[in-house]
Amino acid sequence: MPSRRSLLLGGVALGGAVALLSMRPNKLGAGGHNDYFTNLNNVLRQNGEGRPTMIVDLDALDHNIREVSRALGGRDLRIVAKSVPSTSLIDYISDLSGSNRLMAFHEPFLGAMGNQQFDILFGKPMPVAAAARFYDRPALKRFDPTTQLQWLIDTPERLAQYVSLAQTKNVTMRVNIELDVGLHRGGVHDPAVLQQMLKTIEQTPQLTFNGLMGYDPHVVKMPELIVGQQEEFQQVQQRYQKMLDVALASVAKTNNTNDLTLNAAGSPTYALWGNVDGIANELSVGSGFVKPLDFDLPSLANHRPALYIATPVLKSSAGTWTAGADWVGEAQSLWDPNRARTIFVYGGYWQAKPVSPEGLVTNPLFGRSSNQEMLNASDAVDVNVDDYVFYRPTQSEFVMLQFGEILGVRKGQIEHRWKPFTWA
Ligand SMILES: Cc1ncc(COP(=O)(O)O)c(C=O)c1O
Repeated sequence: MPSRRSLLLGGVALGGAVALLSMRPNKLGAGGHNDYFTNLNNVLRQNGEGRPTMIVDLDALDHNIREVSRALGGRDLRIVAKSVPSTSLIDYISDLSGSNRLMAFHEPFLGAMGNQQFDILFGKPMPVAAAARFYDRPALKRFDPTTQLQWLIDTPERLAQYVSLAQTKNVTMRVNIELDVGLHRGGVHDPAVLQQMLKTIEQTPQLTFNGLMGYDPHVVKMPELIVGQQEEFQQVQQRYQKMLDVALASVAKTNNTNDLTLNAAGSPTYALWGNVDGIANELSVGSGFVKPLDFDLPSLANHRPALYIATPVLKSSAGTWTAGADWVGEAQSLWDPNRARTIFVYGGYWQAKPVSPEGLVTNPLFGRSSNQEMLNASDAVDVNVDDYVFYRPTQSEFVMLQFGEILGVRKGQIEHRWKPFTWA
Protein backbone atom coordinates (compact mmCIF):
# COMPACT_ATOMS: atom_id res chain seq x y z
CA MET A 1 0.00 0.00 0.00
CA PRO A 2 1.48 3.41 -0.86
CA SER A 3 2.37 5.54 2.18
CA ARG A 4 0.37 8.64 3.01
CA ARG A 5 3.39 10.69 1.97
CA SER A 6 3.68 9.12 -1.46
CA LEU A 7 -0.06 9.37 -1.99
CA LEU A 8 0.16 13.07 -1.27
CA LEU A 9 3.22 13.45 -3.47
CA GLY A 10 1.41 11.59 -6.21
CA GLY A 11 -1.44 14.08 -5.95
CA VAL A 12 0.93 17.02 -5.95
CA ALA A 13 2.89 15.57 -8.87
CA LEU A 14 -0.23 14.92 -10.90
CA GLY A 15 -1.58 18.39 -10.11
CA GLY A 16 1.80 19.84 -10.96
CA ALA A 17 2.00 18.07 -14.29
CA VAL A 18 -1.43 19.38 -15.25
CA ALA A 19 -0.35 22.83 -14.05
CA LEU A 20 2.81 22.65 -16.14
CA LEU A 21 0.84 21.86 -19.25
CA SER A 22 -1.70 24.57 -18.66
CA MET A 23 0.32 27.37 -17.08
CA ARG A 24 3.21 29.53 -18.00
CA PRO A 25 4.50 32.32 -15.80
CA ASN A 26 2.25 35.34 -16.22
CA LYS A 27 3.75 38.23 -18.16
CA LEU A 28 4.28 41.18 -15.88
CA GLY A 29 5.43 44.74 -16.06
CA ALA A 30 8.29 46.15 -14.00
CA GLY A 31 7.88 45.51 -10.27
CA GLY A 32 5.06 43.09 -10.98
CA HIS A 33 2.50 45.87 -11.47
CA ASN A 34 1.37 47.45 -14.74
CA ASP A 35 1.56 51.25 -15.03
CA TYR A 36 -1.85 51.76 -13.42
CA PHE A 37 -1.02 49.80 -10.28
CA THR A 38 2.60 51.04 -10.19
CA ASN A 39 1.11 54.52 -9.91
CA LEU A 40 -1.23 53.48 -7.08
CA ASN A 41 1.62 51.61 -5.38
CA ASN A 42 3.71 54.81 -5.47
CA VAL A 43 0.85 56.90 -4.03
CA LEU A 44 0.50 54.49 -1.13
CA ARG A 45 4.21 54.02 -0.54
CA GLN A 46 4.49 57.81 -0.22
CA ASN A 47 1.22 58.71 1.54
CA GLY A 48 -0.36 55.45 2.68
CA GLU A 49 -0.70 54.41 6.27
CA GLY A 50 0.93 51.02 6.02
CA ARG A 51 -2.28 49.05 6.42
CA PRO A 52 -5.05 47.58 4.28
CA THR A 53 -6.81 50.47 2.57
CA MET A 54 -9.95 50.83 0.50
CA ILE A 55 -9.38 52.87 -2.64
CA VAL A 56 -11.81 54.46 -5.06
CA ASP A 57 -10.41 55.47 -8.45
CA LEU A 58 -12.10 58.85 -8.99
CA ASP A 59 -11.64 58.93 -12.76
CA ALA A 60 -13.33 55.53 -13.07
CA LEU A 61 -16.07 56.62 -10.64
CA ASP A 62 -16.71 59.80 -12.67
CA HIS A 63 -16.85 57.75 -15.84
CA ASN A 64 -19.41 55.37 -14.27
CA ILE A 65 -21.59 58.23 -13.00
CA ARG A 66 -21.61 59.76 -16.49
CA GLU A 67 -22.38 56.36 -18.00
CA VAL A 68 -25.33 55.85 -15.64
CA SER A 69 -26.69 59.32 -16.39
CA ARG A 70 -26.46 58.56 -20.09
CA ALA A 71 -28.02 55.07 -19.98
CA LEU A 72 -30.97 55.94 -17.71
CA GLY A 73 -32.95 56.95 -20.77
CA GLY A 74 -34.33 60.08 -19.13
CA ARG A 75 -35.59 58.40 -15.96
CA ASP A 76 -34.67 59.55 -12.49
CA LEU A 77 -31.84 57.85 -10.67
CA ARG A 78 -32.08 56.42 -7.16
CA ILE A 79 -28.65 55.85 -5.61
CA VAL A 80 -28.43 52.51 -3.77
CA ALA A 81 -26.75 53.72 -0.59
CA LYS A 82 -25.67 50.32 0.75
CA SER A 83 -23.47 49.77 -2.30
CA VAL A 84 -21.61 53.08 -1.88
CA PRO A 85 -21.82 53.19 1.94
CA SER A 86 -20.34 56.55 2.87
CA THR A 87 -22.15 59.86 3.31
CA SER A 88 -19.42 61.77 1.47
CA LEU A 89 -19.25 59.29 -1.39
CA ILE A 90 -23.03 59.47 -1.75
CA ASP A 91 -22.82 63.29 -1.75
CA TYR A 92 -20.16 63.06 -4.47
CA ILE A 93 -22.37 60.83 -6.65
CA SER A 94 -25.42 62.94 -5.90
CA ASP A 95 -23.61 66.15 -6.93
CA LEU A 96 -22.34 64.71 -10.20
CA SER A 97 -25.53 62.86 -11.17
CA GLY A 98 -28.01 65.44 -9.87
CA SER A 99 -29.97 62.72 -8.02
CA ASN A 100 -31.37 63.42 -4.57
CA ARG A 101 -32.97 59.98 -4.19
CA LEU A 102 -31.47 57.23 -2.07
CA MET A 103 -32.36 53.61 -1.46
CA ALA A 104 -31.74 52.42 2.12
CA PHE A 105 -31.39 48.88 3.49
CA HIS A 106 -30.40 49.30 7.14
CA GLU A 107 -32.21 51.47 9.67
CA PRO A 108 -29.07 52.59 11.57
CA PHE A 109 -27.68 54.08 8.32
CA LEU A 110 -30.57 56.56 8.19
CA GLY A 111 -28.74 58.72 10.71
CA ALA A 112 -25.90 59.19 8.21
CA MET A 113 -28.18 59.76 5.20
CA GLY A 114 -31.12 61.64 6.63
CA ASN A 115 -30.76 65.31 5.79
CA GLN A 116 -32.92 67.83 3.99
CA GLN A 117 -31.41 66.99 0.64
CA PHE A 118 -32.65 63.41 0.20
CA ASP A 119 -35.77 61.37 -0.48
CA ILE A 120 -35.15 57.89 0.95
CA LEU A 121 -36.91 54.68 -0.10
CA PHE A 122 -36.25 51.45 1.76
CA GLY A 123 -35.18 48.69 -0.64
CA LYS A 124 -36.14 45.91 1.75
CA PRO A 125 -38.98 45.65 4.23
CA MET A 126 -37.79 46.59 7.71
CA PRO A 127 -39.07 44.37 10.52
CA VAL A 128 -41.54 46.53 12.41
CA ALA A 129 -39.17 46.55 15.41
CA ALA A 130 -36.58 48.36 13.27
CA ALA A 131 -39.18 50.90 12.15
CA ALA A 132 -40.23 51.41 15.79
CA ARG A 133 -36.58 51.95 16.71
CA PHE A 134 -36.35 54.76 14.13
CA TYR A 135 -39.27 56.61 15.76
CA ASP A 136 -37.83 55.99 19.25
CA ARG A 137 -34.54 57.67 18.36
CA PRO A 138 -34.14 61.43 18.71
CA ALA A 139 -35.61 63.02 15.56
CA LEU A 140 -33.05 63.80 12.86
CA LYS A 141 -32.62 67.57 12.73
CA ARG A 142 -32.77 68.22 9.01
CA PHE A 143 -34.96 65.36 7.87
CA ASP A 144 -38.74 65.07 7.84
CA PRO A 145 -39.71 61.38 7.62
CA THR A 146 -43.31 62.25 6.81
CA THR A 147 -42.25 63.72 3.46
CA GLN A 148 -38.76 62.28 2.88
CA LEU A 149 -38.99 58.60 3.84
CA GLN A 150 -40.84 55.66 2.25
CA TRP A 151 -41.11 52.39 4.15
CA LEU A 152 -41.26 49.26 1.98
CA ILE A 153 -44.09 46.82 2.70
CA ASP A 154 -44.18 43.32 1.23
CA THR A 155 -47.24 41.55 2.71
CA PRO A 156 -50.66 42.33 4.22
CA GLU A 157 -49.33 40.97 7.55
CA ARG A 158 -46.47 43.44 7.67
CA LEU A 159 -48.82 46.20 6.60
CA ALA A 160 -51.02 45.40 9.61
CA GLN A 161 -47.95 45.72 11.87
CA TYR A 162 -47.14 49.14 10.39
CA VAL A 163 -50.75 50.31 10.76
CA SER A 164 -50.53 49.43 14.42
CA LEU A 165 -47.10 51.11 14.77
CA ALA A 166 -48.27 54.32 13.11
CA GLN A 167 -51.34 54.45 15.37
CA THR A 168 -49.38 53.68 18.54
CA LYS A 169 -46.64 56.21 17.82
CA ASN A 170 -49.10 58.64 16.26
CA VAL A 171 -46.88 59.22 13.24
CA THR A 172 -47.65 59.65 9.55
CA MET A 173 -45.80 57.21 7.31
CA ARG A 174 -45.36 56.95 3.54
CA VAL A 175 -45.63 53.41 2.25
CA ASN A 176 -44.21 51.86 -0.91
CA ILE A 177 -45.31 48.34 -1.87
CA GLU A 178 -42.79 45.75 -2.99
CA LEU A 179 -43.75 43.79 -6.09
CA ASP A 180 -42.49 40.34 -6.91
CA VAL A 181 -41.72 40.82 -10.59
CA GLY A 182 -39.97 37.44 -10.88
CA LEU A 183 -37.08 37.35 -8.39
CA HIS A 184 -39.29 35.75 -5.69
CA ARG A 185 -37.21 37.29 -2.91
CA GLY A 186 -40.26 39.03 -1.56
CA GLY A 187 -43.17 41.23 -2.48
CA VAL A 188 -46.68 40.94 -3.84
CA HIS A 189 -47.52 39.19 -7.10
CA ASP A 190 -51.29 38.74 -6.76
CA PRO A 191 -53.30 41.79 -7.94
CA ALA A 192 -56.08 40.96 -5.47
CA VAL A 193 -53.62 41.11 -2.57
CA LEU A 194 -52.30 44.45 -3.81
CA GLN A 195 -55.86 45.76 -4.01
CA GLN A 196 -56.54 44.63 -0.46
CA MET A 197 -53.35 46.33 0.80
CA LEU A 198 -54.18 49.58 -1.00
CA LYS A 199 -57.60 49.53 0.63
CA THR A 200 -56.05 49.09 4.08
CA ILE A 201 -53.75 52.05 3.44
CA GLU A 202 -56.66 54.16 2.21
CA GLN A 203 -58.56 53.39 5.40
CA THR A 204 -55.61 54.32 7.64
CA PRO A 205 -55.24 58.11 7.97
CA GLN A 206 -51.66 57.74 9.27
CA LEU A 207 -50.49 55.98 6.09
CA THR A 208 -50.07 57.27 2.53
CA PHE A 209 -49.49 55.05 -0.48
CA ASN A 210 -46.44 56.38 -2.25
CA GLY A 211 -45.57 53.90 -4.98
CA LEU A 212 -44.21 50.53 -6.04
CA MET A 213 -40.80 48.87 -6.16
CA GLY A 214 -39.91 45.84 -8.33
CA TYR A 215 -36.36 44.46 -8.44
CA ASP A 216 -35.22 42.11 -11.19
CA PRO A 217 -31.46 41.24 -11.21
CA HIS A 218 -32.26 37.58 -12.02
CA VAL A 219 -32.94 38.72 -15.60
CA VAL A 220 -29.21 38.95 -16.30
CA LYS A 221 -27.71 36.95 -13.42
CA MET A 222 -29.34 33.60 -14.21
CA PRO A 223 -27.56 31.59 -16.94
CA GLU A 224 -29.14 32.19 -20.34
CA LEU A 225 -29.76 28.44 -20.59
CA ILE A 226 -32.08 28.56 -17.59
CA VAL A 227 -33.71 31.94 -18.17
CA GLY A 228 -33.98 33.47 -21.64
CA GLN A 229 -33.02 37.03 -20.74
CA GLN A 230 -35.10 38.87 -23.32
CA GLU A 231 -38.23 36.80 -22.59
CA GLU A 232 -37.81 37.14 -18.84
CA PHE A 233 -37.30 40.90 -19.13
CA GLN A 234 -40.55 41.12 -21.13
CA GLN A 235 -42.28 39.10 -18.40
CA VAL A 236 -40.88 41.38 -15.70
CA GLN A 237 -42.33 44.42 -17.47
CA GLN A 238 -45.72 42.75 -17.91
CA ARG A 239 -45.86 41.69 -14.24
CA TYR A 240 -44.98 45.25 -13.17
CA GLN A 241 -47.51 46.81 -15.57
CA LYS A 242 -50.30 44.53 -14.35
CA MET A 243 -49.78 45.60 -10.74
CA LEU A 244 -49.32 49.23 -11.75
CA ASP A 245 -52.72 49.20 -13.46
CA VAL A 246 -54.29 47.97 -10.21
CA ALA A 247 -52.52 50.66 -8.21
CA LEU A 248 -53.37 53.46 -10.63
CA ALA A 249 -57.05 52.50 -10.70
CA SER A 250 -57.20 52.48 -6.94
CA VAL A 251 -55.12 55.57 -6.30
CA ALA A 252 -56.63 57.79 -9.00
CA LYS A 253 -59.56 58.32 -6.64
CA THR A 254 -57.43 59.84 -3.89
CA ASN A 255 -53.91 60.80 -4.96
CA ASN A 256 -52.11 62.53 -7.75
CA THR A 257 -50.65 59.52 -9.56
CA ASN A 258 -47.81 61.65 -10.98
CA ASP A 259 -46.33 61.80 -7.51
CA LEU A 260 -45.91 58.04 -7.20
CA THR A 261 -42.44 56.53 -6.91
CA LEU A 262 -42.34 53.68 -9.42
CA ASN A 263 -38.95 52.12 -8.80
CA ALA A 264 -37.31 49.37 -10.83
CA ALA A 265 -33.96 47.75 -11.59
CA GLY A 266 -30.56 47.73 -10.00
CA SER A 267 -27.10 47.94 -11.53
CA PRO A 268 -27.39 44.68 -13.52
CA THR A 269 -30.61 45.72 -15.31
CA TYR A 270 -30.87 49.51 -15.24
CA ALA A 271 -29.51 49.91 -18.77
CA LEU A 272 -32.17 47.50 -20.10
CA TRP A 273 -34.83 49.67 -18.49
CA GLY A 274 -33.27 52.72 -20.12
CA ASN A 275 -34.74 51.49 -23.41
CA VAL A 276 -38.26 50.80 -22.11
CA ASP A 277 -41.19 53.22 -22.45
CA GLY A 278 -43.37 53.87 -19.41
CA ILE A 279 -43.89 51.64 -16.31
CA ALA A 280 -41.08 52.69 -13.93
CA ASN A 281 -40.25 56.36 -13.49
CA GLU A 282 -36.97 55.84 -11.62
CA LEU A 283 -34.13 53.29 -11.68
CA SER A 284 -31.81 52.19 -8.89
CA VAL A 285 -28.04 51.95 -9.25
CA GLY A 286 -25.36 51.49 -6.60
CA SER A 287 -22.71 48.86 -7.30
CA GLY A 288 -22.42 50.01 -10.91
CA PHE A 289 -20.72 53.20 -9.71
CA VAL A 290 -17.74 51.24 -8.39
CA LYS A 291 -18.15 47.94 -10.28
CA PRO A 292 -16.86 45.24 -7.94
CA LEU A 293 -16.01 41.84 -9.49
CA ASP A 294 -19.49 40.31 -9.24
CA PHE A 295 -20.65 43.10 -11.56
CA ASP A 296 -18.40 42.13 -14.46
CA LEU A 297 -21.56 41.51 -16.46
CA PRO A 298 -22.21 42.13 -20.16
CA SER A 299 -24.92 44.64 -19.18
CA LEU A 300 -22.26 46.70 -17.35
CA ALA A 301 -19.58 46.40 -20.03
CA ASN A 302 -19.39 50.20 -20.34
CA HIS A 303 -18.57 50.59 -16.64
CA ARG A 304 -15.03 50.61 -15.25
CA PRO A 305 -13.74 48.96 -12.05
CA ALA A 306 -13.23 51.73 -9.50
CA LEU A 307 -12.73 49.84 -6.25
CA TYR A 308 -9.58 48.22 -4.87
CA ILE A 309 -8.17 47.01 -1.60
CA ALA A 310 -4.48 47.89 -1.33
CA THR A 311 -2.43 46.09 1.28
CA PRO A 312 1.27 46.15 2.19
CA VAL A 313 3.58 43.21 1.63
CA LEU A 314 5.12 41.99 4.91
CA LYS A 315 7.38 39.29 3.45
CA SER A 316 8.33 38.30 -0.09
CA SER A 317 10.58 35.32 -0.77
CA ALA A 318 11.53 32.74 -3.39
CA GLY A 319 9.85 29.36 -3.23
CA THR A 320 6.76 28.09 -1.50
CA TRP A 321 7.06 26.81 2.04
CA THR A 322 4.27 24.96 3.72
CA ALA A 323 4.33 25.00 7.50
CA GLY A 324 5.36 21.61 8.91
CA ALA A 325 5.74 20.06 5.44
CA ASP A 326 8.22 22.14 3.47
CA TRP A 327 8.66 19.35 0.92
CA VAL A 328 5.01 19.81 -0.15
CA GLY A 329 5.59 23.51 -0.72
CA GLU A 330 8.83 22.78 -2.54
CA ALA A 331 7.00 20.35 -4.80
CA GLN A 332 4.31 22.94 -5.43
CA SER A 333 6.77 25.62 -6.49
CA LEU A 334 8.76 23.13 -8.55
CA TRP A 335 5.79 21.99 -10.58
CA ASP A 336 3.81 25.20 -10.82
CA PRO A 337 5.74 28.27 -12.04
CA ASN A 338 3.03 30.53 -10.62
CA ARG A 339 3.96 29.31 -7.12
CA ALA A 340 7.65 30.21 -7.48
CA ARG A 341 7.35 33.05 -4.93
CA THR A 342 5.61 33.42 -1.60
CA ILE A 343 4.24 36.73 -0.41
CA PHE A 344 2.66 37.43 2.96
CA VAL A 345 0.40 40.46 3.13
CA TYR A 346 -1.17 42.55 5.90
CA GLY A 347 -4.70 41.14 6.34
CA GLY A 348 -6.52 39.12 3.73
CA TYR A 349 -9.41 36.69 3.30
CA TRP A 350 -11.68 39.54 2.23
CA GLN A 351 -14.58 39.08 -0.16
CA ALA A 352 -12.08 39.99 -2.85
CA LYS A 353 -9.62 38.50 -5.34
CA PRO A 354 -5.98 39.54 -5.75
CA VAL A 355 -5.55 41.33 -9.10
CA SER A 356 -2.13 42.94 -9.07
CA PRO A 357 0.58 41.86 -9.51
CA GLU A 358 -1.14 39.72 -12.08
CA GLY A 359 -1.19 36.01 -11.34
CA LEU A 360 -1.29 36.22 -7.52
CA VAL A 361 -3.08 33.22 -6.06
CA THR A 362 -3.99 32.08 -2.58
CA ASN A 363 -2.53 28.79 -1.41
CA PRO A 364 -5.08 26.05 -0.67
CA LEU A 365 -2.62 24.08 1.47
CA PHE A 366 -1.62 27.02 3.65
CA GLY A 367 -5.23 28.24 3.70
CA ARG A 368 -6.65 31.74 3.97
CA SER A 369 -5.86 34.20 6.74
CA SER A 370 -7.56 37.43 7.79
CA ASN A 371 -4.41 38.44 9.58
CA GLN A 372 -1.50 37.63 7.24
CA GLU A 373 -2.56 35.96 4.03
CA MET A 374 -0.16 33.86 1.97
CA LEU A 375 -0.14 34.54 -1.76
CA ASN A 376 1.93 32.81 -4.41
CA ALA A 377 3.26 34.24 -7.64
CA SER A 378 5.64 33.48 -10.46
CA ASP A 379 9.25 34.63 -10.07
CA ALA A 380 8.55 37.40 -12.59
CA VAL A 381 6.82 39.15 -9.69
CA ASP A 382 9.32 41.20 -7.76
CA VAL A 383 7.15 43.01 -5.26
CA ASN A 384 9.09 43.74 -2.14
CA VAL A 385 8.35 44.35 1.50
CA ASP A 386 6.35 47.62 1.88
CA ASP A 387 5.12 47.48 -1.72
CA TYR A 388 1.35 47.18 -1.99
CA VAL A 389 -0.62 44.42 -3.65
CA PHE A 390 -4.15 45.02 -4.90
CA TYR A 391 -7.36 43.05 -4.57
CA ARG A 392 -10.68 43.71 -6.28
CA PRO A 393 -13.67 43.26 -3.95
CA THR A 394 -16.37 40.91 -5.24
CA GLN A 395 -18.99 43.25 -3.77
CA SER A 396 -18.90 46.75 -2.35
CA GLU A 397 -21.57 46.89 0.31
CA PHE A 398 -20.00 45.06 3.22
CA VAL A 399 -16.37 45.18 2.12
CA MET A 400 -16.30 49.00 2.00
CA LEU A 401 -17.23 49.17 5.70
CA GLN A 402 -14.15 47.25 6.85
CA PHE A 403 -11.21 49.60 6.29
CA GLY A 404 -11.88 52.91 8.00
CA GLU A 405 -11.41 55.90 5.70
CA ILE A 406 -11.91 55.25 1.99
CA LEU A 407 -9.30 57.02 -0.15
CA GLY A 408 -10.53 58.76 -3.31
CA VAL A 409 -7.49 58.77 -5.62
CA ARG A 410 -6.96 60.57 -8.92
CA LYS A 411 -3.79 60.72 -11.03
CA GLY A 412 -1.40 59.97 -8.23
CA GLN A 413 -3.10 62.20 -5.65
CA ILE A 414 -5.33 61.36 -2.71
CA GLU A 415 -8.21 63.82 -3.26
CA HIS A 416 -10.70 62.55 -0.70
CA ARG A 417 -10.80 60.69 2.60
CA TRP A 418 -14.32 59.43 3.11
CA LYS A 419 -15.71 57.87 6.29
CA PRO A 420 -17.81 54.75 5.67
CA PHE A 421 -21.12 54.19 7.44
CA THR A 422 -20.92 52.48 10.80
CA TRP A 423 -23.01 49.34 11.04
CA ALA A 424 -24.69 49.93 14.41
C1 LIG B 1 -34.41 46.46 -4.09
C2 LIG B 1 -33.08 46.65 -4.72
N1 LIG B 1 -32.97 47.56 -5.69
C3 LIG B 1 -31.78 47.76 -6.27
C4 LIG B 1 -30.65 47.07 -5.88
C5 LIG B 1 -29.41 47.30 -6.66
O1 LIG B 1 -28.26 47.56 -6.01
P1 LIG B 1 -26.92 47.58 -6.86
O2 LIG B 1 -27.09 48.61 -7.90
O3 LIG B 1 -25.89 47.90 -5.87
O4 LIG B 1 -26.78 46.22 -7.46
C6 LIG B 1 -30.74 46.11 -4.86
C7 LIG B 1 -29.57 45.36 -4.43
O5 LIG B 1 -29.58 44.52 -3.56
C8 LIG B 1 -32.00 45.89 -4.27
O6 LIG B 1 -32.14 44.96 -3.32
